Amino acid sequence: MSLLIKNGEIITTDERYTADIFCEDETITRIERNIDKVKADEVVDAKGKYVFPGFIDPHVHIYLPFMGTFAKDTHETASRAALVGGTTTFIEMICPARTEKPLDAFELWLGKAQGKSACDFTFHMGVTRFDPEAERDFKEIVKRGLSSFKIFLAYKGAFGITDEELYAALTLAKKLGVIVTAHCENADLVLELQKKLLAERKTGPEFHYWSRPPVVEAEGVHHLMTFAEMTGAHVYTVHTSCEESLAEAIRGKGRGVNVWVETLIQYLLLDRTSAEPNFEGAKNVMSPPLRDKKNQEIMWKALADGSVSTLAADHAPFDFTQKQMGKDDFTKIPNGIPSLEDRINLYFTHGVKGNKIDIQRFVDTASAQAAKLFGLFPRKGAIQVGSDADLVVYDPNYRGKISAKTHQMNLDYNSFEGFEIQGRPHVVTVRGKVAARDGKFVGEFGRGQFLKREPSHF
Ligand code: URP
Ligand code: ZN
Ligand code: ZN
Repeated sequence: MSLLIKNGEIITTDERYTADIFCEDETITRIERNIDKVKADEVVDAKGKYVFPGFIDPHVHIYLPFMGTFAKDTHETASRAALVGGTTTFIEMICPARTEKPLDAFELWLGKAQGKSACDFTFHMGVTRFDPEAERDFKEIVKRGLSSFKIFLAYKGAFGITDEELYAALTLAKKLGVIVTAHCENADLVLELQKKLLAERKTGPEFHYWSRPPVVEAEGVHHLMTFAEMTGAHVYTVHTSCEESLAEAIRGKGRGVNVWVETLIQYLLLDRTSAEPNFEGAKNVMSPPLRDKKNQEIMWKALADGSVSTLAADHAPFDFTQKQMGKDDFTKIPNGIPSLEDRINLYFTHGVKGNKIDIQRFVDTASAQAAKLFGLFPRKGAIQVGSDADLVVYDPNYRGKISAKTHQMNLDYNSFEGFEIQGRPHVVTVRGKVAARDGKFVGEFGRGQFLKREPSHF
C-alpha cells in the first residue's frame, strides 16, 4: 500500500513549505520537493491546499455512563465524525463508577473501541476512587500502555474524589511519571448552589451557569495547583473556560507547578446566552458552563501566546430526549456539547481565517501539543519521515455551513447549527489509507489501533 501526496503546502509547528509526501504501508517514508517515478497505489493532488498532521483530540467521551444515561455515539459513529472533521486520533476518558474495579473498566472501554473505531485511539484512565486494590490496578494499567490519569474534582457522589484520594492519586502519578488531567470545579460549592437555586424554584437550564460560576472553577484550579505543588505531579486542566480559572493556572505555573491548560472550541465561540432563555438551551448545558462573551477574547489570546496548550472538543453527546431528563430540574440535564466533528473546521475558520491564531500555532494546539504531552510524538502530531501517515489535506477555499442534517455524529442537533465554515478536509488519511474525502467517510471500521504510551512526566 503506497500513497503519494503532491504539491501541498506542508504546515507543521516549526516549518511551512511545499513538497511531496510519499507513504509506504502505514508510514511517511519520503518528503521531497518533487517525487516522481514512483509507483503509488493512490495519488492525491494537494495543489492549493494545506497538508497538516492528523489532528488529535485529547478529550472525548464516547462510551459514557453519566447522569443516569449513556452518551449517544458509538465508536463507529464517533470515529466517522472525527475523521470527516480531520481528527485522526482521539483520547477518550475512561470514567468508571466508584464501585467498578479500574482494571475491569480499562478492559471494558478498550473492548468498546477495539475492532470498532476507524481512527486511532487511546485513553486517559479515570481515577474515580483510590484504595490499595485500585492502586494495584492503576500500576497495571500504566504497564498496559496508558500514561495519563483523569480526575474529577466535581460530580460529587459519581466520579468525584476526596482530597485524601486526590493526594494519593497525584503521589502515585508522580512516582509512575503519569500526567494527571483534571476537571476542576469545587463539588461542594456546586451542590450548595444547586440546592439554593432549586429552593428558589430556579429550575431552567439558564440556572446551570449560576450553580457553577467562574469562582467555583477557579477554586478547583487553585485546589489542584496546591496539591500538584505538594506532590510534584504534572497536571493538565481540562475544559478551562474563563479568565478566573486560567489566572489560577498561570499563577501556579509562575510558582513552579508543572501545569498545562486545555480549552474547548465551545468556549471560544458560544457564550452563556446559548443556554437561555427556554428549555432549548438545555442542548448547550455543559460543565463548566458556557461563560460571558468577554472570556472568548481572553481564551483566544491565551491559545495564541501559549498560556493554553491545547484546543479540545470534550465531545459528550446527549440527544434532546435525554436532555429532557432535566425538564423540571436543570441539575438533571445530562452535561455535554458535542463538537468532535466540527472542532477543526470551526477553529480554522475563526482562528486562522479570523486572524486570531497563526496557522502553525493552530497545528500546535490542535495536534502537536497533545501528541507531546500525552506520549504520542513524533509518531503522531508531526509530518516527518518515520511518523505515522496520518495526514489532512485541507481545502482552505471550501465554504459551507454546519448542520445536524448533514453531520456524522449520532445526534439530533448541533450546537453550531448554521455556523459558516471556511475550509474543510479534502482528504484524511489514517496510517497511509484514505479514511475521509470531502465530507464523506470512506474509512474502515475496526482499523483504528489502540496506541500504547510510555510515561514521560517524572
Ligand atoms: O459537560 C461536560 N463537560 N460533560 C462531559 C463530562 C465532563 O465533565 O467532561
Ligand atoms: Zn469534565
Ligand atoms: Zn469531559
